[in-house]
Amino acid sequence: MKAAFIRSVGTPDSIIVGDLPMPVPTEHQVLVRVKAVSVNPIDTYIRSGIVAMQLPNPFVIGCDMAGVIEDVGDGVTDLSIGTRVWASNQGLLGRQGTFAEYIAVDREWLHVLPENVEFKAAAACALVGITAHLGLFSHARLRHGETILVIGGAGGVGSMVVQMAKAAGARVIATAGSDEKVDACKRLGADEVIPHHRESIGEATKVLAPDGVNVFWETRREPDFDTAVSLMAPRGRMVLMAGRDARPLFPVGPFYVKECSLHGFVMFKATPEETLAAGIDISGWLADGVLRANISHELELEQAGYAHQLQEDATIRSTGTLAGKIVLTV
Ligand SMILES: NC(=O)c1ccc[n+]([C@@H]2O[C@H](COP(=O)([O-])OP(=O)(O)OC[C@H]3O[C@@H](n4cnc5c(N)ncnc54)[C@H](OP(=O)(O)O)[C@@H]3O)[C@@H](O)[C@H]2O)c1
Repeated sequence: MKAAFIRSVGTPDSIIVGDLPMPVPTEHQVLVRVKAVSVNPIDTYIRSGIVAMQLPNPFVIGCDMAGVIEDVGDGVTDLSIGTRVWASNQGLLGRQGTFAEYIAVDREWLHVLPENVEFKAAAACALVGITAHLGLFSHARLRHGETILVIGGAGGVGSMVVQMAKAAGARVIATAGSDEKVDACKRLGADEVIPHHRESIGEATKVLAPDGVNVFWETRREPDFDTAVSLMAPRGRMVLMAGRDARPLFPVGPFYVKECSLHGFVMFKATPEETLAAGIDISGWLADGVLRANISHELELEQAGYAHQLQEDATIRSTGTLAGKIVLTV
């Protein structure tokens, strides 16, 4: 079968697109014919080695996929051949990744994909959708009628947060770094968008939410806590999920006097049960049109190296050249 894989960590050029043996599902695994995959920043960190993980050799890259079940292990009784599925959490913690024609996945990571949802939409929403769901509902506990500020509302995670927060009945203020991304945030349902290439996020938020925001969702890798805490309402919750190397100053006094809280998490440490619970909502919202994929680039599996270069340029070098997800058809 065709696959995109590495034999050792390195630059995007280290990705090989070539033939590998078909995987054979074990008792509690499912063999999936992959139709679409997407790229996440974590894929590039693992490929480059800046996030060190135990990797099989060869290591098939990628966390996300959508496809059709080709075969099931003897211990899998609730899924059958021909069922459409999607998954994230692959290519992590020693598991093989998704960028291949066929993958063998532990059943516990699979979500059923409704008939009316495209494979590429499900692949584009997988990791980022689960991240948004966990952060909003398990960590920040966003409530109906609250105000949330989403930094990077047109990005991979941000576009999911904007839509899910709207679905939960919140008032959504998003930031965007170009006029096109401002329009994208509005199409996703944001009530207000701050064009941060022209306006200060801090000043604009103070005008839009003079009593403060209840939830501050940070997607940048260098958070500015002084500004964030000044923008939060009493008992505000800040979600942190990016910037492993960041060591910014922290305004202790203003933070605790306002009774704020910080919620840091990584989605790949969620249990299969927590991930499945998020997946049920995501599948339902995709089927109902409440949640839409935000796709920036559509490529083919052969372009996996280029896709990693694009993602890395946007995430590490802040080029602003991505406006959502990179999806590859397989
Ligand atoms: N903890 C977890 O479980 C988890 C899960 C997924 C992702 N992540 C991490 O979260 C980060 C975002 O991931 P992603 O997939 O959403 O990436 P992405 O699609 O590249 O989005 C990043 C967003 O950040 C915004 N941004 C960058 N610099 C900015 C600045 N100076 N001011 C305001 N906005 C800025 C960009 O908005 P504009 O282009 O509009 O400026 C962009 O929308 C990555 O570092 C990733 O590793 C963590």
